[in-house]
Order: sequence, then structure tokens, then C-alpha cells
Amino acid sequence: MTDLTRWQGKVALVTGASSGIGAATLQRLFDEGLFVVGAARRQERIAALLKDKDPEGKQHMALGVDLRDVNDIQKMFETVRQQMGGIDVLINCAGLGHDAPLLSGDAEHWREMLDVNVLALCICTQEGIKDMRERGDKGHVIHVSSMSGHRVPGSSGVYSATKFAVRSLTEGLRNELRAANSHIRISAISPAYVETDFVSHYHRSEEKAQEIFARFEVLQPEDIADAIVYMLSCPPHVQVHDLLVRATEQTS
Ligand SMILES: NC(=O)c1ccc[n+]([C@@H]2O[C@H](COP(=O)([O-])OP(=O)(O)OC[C@H]3O[C@@H](n4cnc5c(N)ncnc54)[C@H](OP(=O)(O)O)[C@@H]3O)[C@@H](O)[C@H]2O)c1
Repeated sequence: MTDLTRWQGKVALVTGASSGIGAATLQRLFDEGLFVVGAARRQERIAALLKDKDPEGKQHMALGVDLRDVNDIQKMFETVRQQMGGIDVLINCAGLGHDAPLLSGDAEHWREMLDVNVLALCICTQEGIKDMRERGDKGHVIHVSSMSGHRVPGSSGVYSATKFAVRSLTEGLRNELRAANSHIRISAISPAYVETDFVSHYHRSEEKAQEIFARFEVLQPEDIADAIVYMLSCPPHVQVHDLLVRATEQTS
């Protein structure tokens, strides 16, 4: 059984909250009683998620941010510090893939994947941990990685490289937090296919995405939100390092 009582009233920042896994996680953490801050470029989509449940914004905030822009990231953290005093939980969920093979891909697609999936995740982590240390040194950072950080499907080498990097960043941060005798936890979750816009965006084809989703019963964003809640709910001495989650019938 999951119990998030000790996180109630704490502030959780979810990047990539306008869609898919981030949107499901934002709503779930809101329902669990956390104050949630959702961030993505499509701010209006985040605002719409909790408009009915919290029309006056007493328990949530929607921020527009382009994570490719370092200044935008800094501004996002400044806004949260001014309004909420900082964050206690960081869900680094924003990310994207392009079908951009090494032999034929476009360098701008590689750059976007590296900027959002790796560089922005590093900056958000550094800023988020500054807040957590100020607020009692008991926070939790969760990176949304991928099964593609554990194996390389076909020509997805560059996307996979960004998720292998997330694995390195998870362990590297764990080492740094240990050296600093911090109580902040770091975890990753590595999903296989999840039914979100990620797949049609990757293949630049809605038809291809629907064909993939029809192969077997794929994971839903709420399945990943459940797993994130599980990691947060573990007692303070338990740190889940990386959860690999596949649909039961997925082969790869
Ligand atoms: N779906 C899968 O099969 C799958 C499998 C394994 C891992 N993942 C990982 O799961 C995470 C979430 O993806 P998803 O499946 O939920 O896909 P999604 O529905 O496409 O959501 C991606 C999110 O990332 C945000 N984002 C992308 N570029 C951004 C930028 N420049 N600035 C700010 N936000 C940006 C998007 O917001 P805006 O467009 O509004 O900015 C959106 O909220 C990603 O890290 C992905 O790599 C997905």
C-alpha cells in the first residue's frame, strides 16, 4: 500500500506536465495532497488539467517554460522560490525522441534531444537540490528515463544515448549525495512503450503510433504515475534506484 502522508503540503515540480506521463503524474500528486507545479511550453494545457479541481490555484501552479533555454529554467525556479519558497520533490519528466539515425539524422534533432533530455535535466536537478537542501535536506528527485537507457532498439542510438546518460546522472548524483551525507533521494524509472504523444512525435506519424499501440496492451501514463508514487512512498531509508517497467506482452 502506498502512503504519501509525509509529502502532503510539500511542493513537487513536474517537468513535461502538459502531456502524457508528466500530466498523469501531476494530477496524481495533486490528488495525493501535494502542492504541484507543472512546467512545459504548453502552459495552457497544464492549467486546464486542474482547473476544475482547484479553480483558484490553491494547490497548483502552471508554468510556461522552454527547457532548451537555460534562462527560462532559471526563471522557472525563481518564480517557484518567490511564490512557494522552493521545491521538495522534482520529477524530471520532460523529454522527447526523434527518429534520427546516426547515418542519416539531422543534427538539430540530436541537439534538441540532448538539450531537453540531458542538459535541462542536469540544470533542473542542480537547482532543485539547492531548494531541497534549504528545506530540510529530505527531498526526492525522480528522473523519467527509459528502457532505451538499458538497450538500444534499432537505429535509436542518439535517443538511447540521452537515456543512457540519465542512468549515469542517476548514479553520479547518488554518489555526490552520499559524499555530502545528504538525506535527499534520487531515483529513476525506465518505461518501455507508453501510450502518449511521444510515439507519434518520434515516428512523425500518428498512424505508426496507432499500429504500435495495437500490437499488445501497452502501458498507460497512469501506470508510470503509480510507479512514481510507489517510489515516493517508500520509507526514508529505502531508495529505489531504477524501476524498469514493460508491458507484460512487450517483447523488445
Ligand atoms: N511514451 C513512451 O513510450 C516513453 C517510453 C520511455 C520513456 N519515455 C519518456 O517519458 C518522458 C515523458 O514522455 P511522454 O511519453 O509523456 O511524452 P509526451 O506526451 O510527448 O510528453 C513530453 C513532455 O515533454 C515536454 N517537453 C518536450 N520538449 C520540451 C521543451 N523544450 N521544454 C519544455 N517541455 C518540453 C512536453 O511539453 P511541451 O511540448 O508542452 O513543451 C511534454 O509535456 C520523456 O522523458 C520520454 O523520453 C516515454
